[in-house]
Amino acid sequence: MTILLSVTGFDPTRWLAAMKAAGGDEEIVLEPQAAGDPAIRYAVVWKQPPGLLATLPNLEAIFSLGAGVDHILADKALPDVPIARIVADDLTGRMSEYVVWRVLDHFRRGRAYRQQQAQRIWHERLQPAARDVTVGIMGFGALGQDAAEKLKVLGFKLAGWSRSERQTPGVETFAGQEGLQPFLATTDILVVLLPLTPETRGIIDGKLLSGLKRQTPLGGPVLINAGRGALQDEAAILDALDREVLMEASLDVFTVEPLPAASPLWGHPRIFVTPHAAALSDPDSLAPVVVEQIAAHKRGEPLKHLVDPGAGY
Ligand SMILES: NC(=O)c1ccc[n+]([C@@H]2O[C@H](COP(=O)([O-])OP(=O)(O)OC[C@H]3O[C@@H](n4cnc5c(N)ncnc54)[C@H](OP(=O)(O)O)[C@@H]3O)[C@@H](O)[C@H]2O)c1
Repeated sequence: MTILLSVTGFDPTRWLAAMKAAGGDEEIVLEPQAAGDPAIRYAVVWKQPPGLLATLPNLEAIFSLGAGVDHILADKALPDVPIARIVADDLTGRMSEYVVWRVLDHFRRGRAYRQQQAQRIWHERLQPAARDVTVGIMGFGALGQDAAEKLKVLGFKLAGWSRSERQTPGVETFAGQEGLQPFLATTDILVVLLPLTPETRGIIDGKLLSGLKRQTPLGGPVLINAGRGALQDEAAILDALDREVLMEASLDVFTVEPLPAASPLWGHPRIFVTPHAAALSDPDSLAPVVVEQIAAHKRGEPLKHLVDPGAGY
């Protein structure tokens, strides 16, 4: 029995070493040893070559090396086997760090104070209280809920938007299309942690940004996107900033990555850019999670964090 580790974009040898260190007695290969390799039962992937998995006749399950699975589902010739994504404390904690960092920087006037320092200006800005600011989290799943818990400790008001109804103590929750506008209207700082699916592609457009609360304690709404770049219409974000519909943005993900040097997003004074670095997939932390899932499957136990290919996440 063999595991295929098909990784592009990351260093596959680091994942190979981490998978081996995590135990298990299976052979792990970086590519099939023969056309239609019958020995491969499990595929652990990040951006696998399209069509590759369909050639494996005895494949039993596919595992994503990250929280997102849009890179797997982009393959239009996927075999009909279960797909599981990663939910791991290490990854979740890293994303919550990013969200708390960006929320606090916007909230505590980071941009204005950096400008003032450059000009040696001593001027204390008005600072609202966290209890007067609502952070709205779009995509209230594993990552969104953890970020909400951490922001709650800091005293922010919280709202969450998901596809299905969810109840979380201390969070005002909204669901579905009918919940979207009320959710936006209550949000001062919008944090996007949605998966990329046919329904969410391009969702951060001019209409959505115009739906955000205009009179906020910070002087205008803030956008933070760490979900996927294709969720956002970048021209609409620039336009919303220019029209003061949006005050500031932190973007970790982009429609084209790496963000081209010519993109106006790089130099915009009210955009903070990070290079898809919000939550790194750390092989040493995540490989044991995958190895345990494979062991559980071999024992006949159900896989956790299964993807619904119909919903796209
Ligand atoms: N920038 C980075 O470094 C980085 C790192 C890791 C992950 N990510 C991104 O973060 C995403 C979220 O990860 P996760 O683990 O939190 O996923 P998750 O647990 O599956 O949560 C996804 C959330 O989005 C909601 N959702 C999905 N489609 C929706 C729709 N059409 N309308 C409204 N809500 C919708 C889901 O609603 P339900 O609750 O009703 O299902 C759920 O609340 C990943 O897919 C990935 O794209 C980015």
